[in-house]
Amino acid sequence: MTSSVSALAGARNEALLDWYASHKRDLPWRLSNDPYRVLVSEVMLQQTQVERGIVRFERFISRWPTVHDLAIATNDEVLSEWSGLGYNSRAIRLRDSARIIAGTGWPDTVSDLIQLPGVGPYTAAAVASIAFGEHVAAVDTNLKRVISRWRGEALNGPALQGAADEELGSPARDWNQALMDLGSQLCTPRNPSCGQCPVSTWCTDPSIYEPPAPQATFTGSNRQLRGALVRAHLNSESLQNTGLALGRSEEETETTIQALRTEGLIT
Ligand code: ADE
Repeated sequence: MTSSVSALAGARNEALLDWYASHKRDLPWRLSNDPYRVLVSEVMLQQTQVERGIVRFERFISRWPTVHDLAIATNDEVLSEWSGLGYNSRAIRLRDSARIIAGTGWPDTVSDLIQLPGVGPYTAAAVASIAFGEHVAAVDTNLKRVISRWRGEALNGPALQGAADEELGSPARDWNQALMDLGSQLCTPRNPSCGQCPVSTWCTDPSIYEPPAPQATFTGSNRQLRGALVRAHLNSESLQNTGLALGRSEEETETTIQALRTEGLIT
């Protein structure tokens, strides 16, 4: 980084972190830096809006207050608690991670956290920075949009990671969460509230926004059938009838049941 870029980033980060100190959202997973609470919240928030995540997070944590409690939960228990949160396999992998952690302790760096089942680069960086204080940027779609606007160019891939690493302020725990709050409260995809933005002075182009690739249609998808079959299993309902009710062939239903059995999602 040249000195002018670093001076600019320094002033911007100071304003950003000041704003975060007085405006940060009061969220239950922010009450401590406990890695278990951070990991559960990050996995849950991959598919769930923050508002809805609050209630589900609190319910999950009261059911399994520690990583050791979650480690001994059965597949069915975890799946029924996860109901409505999408991608059931994420719940199983979270429990599998809890088993590893209960056995061998917490990995505390990005490179070790990423070895856990279901933990990708974003989640590893979020947990490493928030729970363990590692100086690393957690790159998600919010951060991509905000940094692209700062830099005045739609960034992706290694260029995005490189820019995030250069812009990253300290402590990374606060900086990452400040960007999450800025991105969701002010620096929104459309019509950003630049008038209220603490760092608008240092922003190049607030109009930059690349919409995410469209999601595959849910209705009629194998994902829809998988979710319905797991729910039917938990409610002791007929799996074949569930497939029929969704208008699926016996063959697709049977193949999907076998796949879910192999993955341990139904027994
Ligand atoms: N989304 C994902 N992680 C979050 C966090 N720690 N705070 C707010 N929103 C989030």
